[in-house]
Amino acid sequence: SRSIDLAVIPGDGIGQEVVTEGLKVLSAVLPQDVKLETKEYDFGARRYRATGETLTDADLDSLKAHDAILLGAIGDPSVPSGVLERGFLLKLRFAFDHHVNLRPSKLLPGVATPLAGQPEIDFVVVREGTEGPYTGNGGTIRTGTAQEVATEVSVNTAYGVERVVRDAFARAQARPRKKLTLVHKNNVLTFAGHLWTNIFNSVAEEYPEVTTEYIHVDAATIYLVTDPGRFDVIVTDNLFGDIITDLAAAVSGGIGVAASGNINPARTYPSMFEPVHGSAPDIAGQGKADPTATVLSVALLLRHLGYDAEADRVDAAVAADLTERADLPPRTTAEIGDALVGRVTG
Ligand code: IPM
Ligand code: MN
Repeated sequence: SRSIDLAVIPGDGIGQEVVTEGLKVLSAVLPQDVKLETKEYDFGARRYRATGETLTDADLDSLKAHDAILLGAIGDPSVPSGVLERGFLLKLRFAFDHHVNLRPSKLLPGVATPLAGQPEIDFVVVREGTEGPYTGNGGTIRTGTAQEVATEVSVNTAYGVERVVRDAFARAQARPRKKLTLVHKNNVLTFAGHLWTNIFNSVAEEYPEVTTEYIHVDAATIYLVTDPGRFDVIVTDNLFGDIITDLAAAVSGGIGVAASGNINPARTYPSMFEPVHGSAPDIAGQGKADPTATVLSVALLLRHLGYDAEADRVDAAVAADLTERADLPPRTTAEIGDALVGRVTG
């Protein structure tokens, strides 16, 4: 019989609240014969303050036995900036080779956008997840002096670029519009830019049905605001992808509905699914957090594990809930979760 063995990392702030609702929807949507097993891990600020540990080798060993990971949010003002980002989140992405950071943006009916009118927005960003300026390749000299020099080297390997570009082409090929945009800055970052452009162009030859275009990252921020409908699939490096996916979230309903998957397509390690938003300590514990982004991340998780019909039902439940939301009084985190459970089972 089928089963899902899930690692659950609620994390900090609103993480616990949104993950609780995500799990409710997950267990409700799964068919009877699928056994869902969950194991909770206490990573995050509290554990770091108590033990000084963020993510040990033993932790990685335990996590690696699961089919997938659901993460709430990590981060707290009591921990210096960068400690949990590097020591937990990035460490996990790198250790489990999450080289496809998948971030869909879809403006659903009834969802407010700061853009004029209600433009068609339905694209997905394939952000490279294990290279670029995120590798920690750099340092300082003359540290702490007026002559300090800091470098932060962007690492781009042919292997790393080709595998993420191939993943993006396959995703574009599978979508109705079959369009793929490479976003980079190859007029200035000529070394990495040319590597990306050359690999993009050569993989394109294997996908004659996919329409391709290249856009500099600065121009891409303009189009994301003035003409987001032009995008179908975007492939880009780790840092450009970090920046443009926050903008993409802002124009398509905000981080309350932005989902993401840190995916290892080869399945050599479990993939991790998380809302794009942070731990929001200012509203933690008040039942005010919107669990929608976590629930949409659960849909990505289901799709990754091959439960496409169940993922479709979760997406449809969220779309219906958002459509009716404008007419409802504000609801708590749990009330939104319960409404979604009702829709996926009803
Ligand atoms: C994100 C976050 C992370 C990133 C940080 C917290 C390390 O901004 O998931 O987009 O830069 O990737
Ligand atoms: Mn980010």
